[in-house]
Amino acid sequence: MTIKRVLTLALAAAAANFFSPVLAEELATCGQATYYPTEYTCHNDKTLCPTQYSLPTKPCAGSGGCYPPEQFSCGEDGVLRTLPSATSPFTLTVWGVRSAYRNQTVRACGGYLAIGANARQCHACTAAGGTNCGVYRNQTVFLTDGRMASAVPGHQYWYINPRDGLLAYTPALAPSALPPAANSTQVGWNATTPITYPTVPNQEFAGLNVKIHENGFFVWDKEGAMSHWWFACLVTLPGGGVSTARSWRIYAPVIPDKRDCELVKIVAKAQVDERAGVYKYV
Ligand SMILES: *[C@@H]1O[C@H](CO)[C@@H](O)[C@H](O)[C@H]1NC(C)=O
Ligand SMILES: *[C@@H]1O[C@H](CO)[C@@H](O)[C@H](O)[C@H]1NC(C)=O
Ligand SMILES: *[C@@H]1O[C@H](CO)[C@@H](O)[C@H](O)[C@H]1NC(C)=O
Ligand SMILES: *[C@@H]1O[C@H](CO)[C@@H](O)[C@H](O)[C@H]1NC(C)=O
Repeated sequence: MTIKRVLTLALAAAAANFFSPVLAEELATCGQATYYPTEYTCHNDKTLCPTQYSLPTKPCAGSGGCYPPEQFSCGEDGVLRTLPSATSPFTLTVWGVRSAYRNQTVRACGGYLAIGANARQCHACTAAGGTNCGVYRNQTVFLTDGRMASAVPGHQYWYINPRDGLLAYTPALAPSALPPAANSTQVGWNATTPITYPTVPNQEFAGLNVKIHENGFFVWDKEGAMSHWWFACLVTLPGGGVSTARSWRIYAPVIPDKRDCELVKIVAKAQVDERAGVYKYV
């Protein structure tokens, strides 16, 4: 099965639970047209642009269409240009239809990157060895070179697990840790590096990597087939129950038929101070 086929199936599967009817919403008018404000934004009483994943799109004069400002800028010439790659530390925010996770900041805890009321931010610092713990803070900050903004020797990396697409981060690695591709159990750990996974049985997962637009989408790239969307998957308790304070883990759509998942987009908020991070994410 090619990756294109996998993605098509994923979209179809996810779309099935994704669209639900808008109940009792008032119609608004835009020029001669009527629209639901949760679905469109009216620009200059003239142009309707659709809301996608709860993010409004904008008209680009001259191009005739609407565009997501998290992916493109619209030039005076009416030409859309892809946003530049991020160069500064960033946080991640998730956008989707469900209000429980709309505009939710991604937090690191227990090796997972998750969102929702029950998604904790877990970090530690011990003053042993003269570490000044007072200079570290508590946000989940990512660096564009693949590391987490933690100060522990050997570094921590965010990565996509090539087997199931899970967005995760490593524990503090030994300072002498081998480069990513050399260790078949931690192959993914610099997610900004395109690598192949010769030891992973399913070759379809080869070459995962992530692109980060400056104040724009956090994009998963599979052999040039960019995916601008991710899955937010509800964490269930052992036995299958769901806690009232919910959390969702985030997956790249490498497996199309994930249960209890919904489509989301992830936006990287740039120009975050690296020192807003922690000593060590645990
Ligand atoms: C998203 O959350 C941030 C910080 O909590 C807030 O400043 C911003 O206005 C929110 N954006 C929207 C569109 O709700
Ligand atoms: C970070 O620390 C501040 C101040 O102690 C606290 O208000 C905030 O909730 C913490 N944030 C996280 C994500 O733990
Ligand atoms: C991660 O990979 C990128 C792209 O190959 C590279 O520029 C960056 O230095 C790597 N990060 C680390 C910490 O080695
Ligand atoms: C690969 O990573 C695993 C898990 O962190 C570790 O136990 C193992 O020693 C590493 N192997 C090599 C060859 O570095």
